[in-house]
Amino acid sequence: MSKNFYHYPVWVRLWHLTNAILCLFLIVTGFSMLYSDPDRALVVKFQRAVSIHNVCGVLLTISYTAFLIGNIFTENGRHYLVAVKGMAERLWKQARYYGFGYFKGEEAPFPVTGTRKFNPLQQVSYVGVMYFILPMLFVTGWALMFPEFILKRFLGFSGVFLTDQFHVILGFLVVVFLCIHLYVSTMGKSPLSNFRSIITGWQESH
Ligand code: HEM
Repeated sequence: MSKNFYHYPVWVRLWHLTNAILCLFLIVTGFSMLYSDPDRALVVKFQRAVSIHNVCGVLLTISYTAFLIGNIFTENGRHYLVAVKGMAERLWKQARYYGFGYFKGEEAPFPVTGTRKFNPLQQVSYVGVMYFILPMLFVTGWALMFPEFILKRFLGFSGVFLTDQFHVILGFLVVVFLCIHLYVSTMGKSPLSNFRSIITGWQESH
């Protein structure tokens, strides 16, 4: 019999909604800047894309700071503490389930419980995106807004060029994360149950 657990408090849901909307704006304007030239717009005109991207980047930094404070001072942070011992085995079990077991109707190896809201793959990918990729995106993004602080040259390359390349690669990683995140989110108790959880706060176990 499935049970429901209140795993997404209001602040997590508000942060997640803000974060998702801002990331979508950043992705669209980021692609617009990358693939349109100043006279030919891709989706958004180049100059407008720059302004929207900058504003959303600043707002995302603020909402990220709220997430970080929330995770430091509330119980939610506990779900981001990865136990290193036995990690490879747990990741493999979960990957096997996503690849085969799920489609054969097997039981989830790490079902949602009162104390566990993420399976090992979710946990590692959320830690990766929230504690590694996003902070590096902020550092490189803010540096590009204030290029006077970037080293003029590094290893024979322009510092601004290198920072920009790094920023774009990190942005692509967020796009890859988002595609996997959306797909894997459909693999809950039912295809829509995880989407319901992030709206209502209640998560259904398998
Ligand atoms: C259209 C955009 C998005 C949708 C529809 C979406 C959907 C979801 C869903 C259904 C969940 C709950 C299920 C689960 O925990 O796996 C979730 C949680 C989460 N999502 Fe997203 N997501 C979106 C964008 C993003 C983006 C852009 C990021 C990060 C860059 C992100 C990071 C997270 C994190 C860290 C959690 C866990 C939050 C917590 O409980 O502490 N999501 N998302």
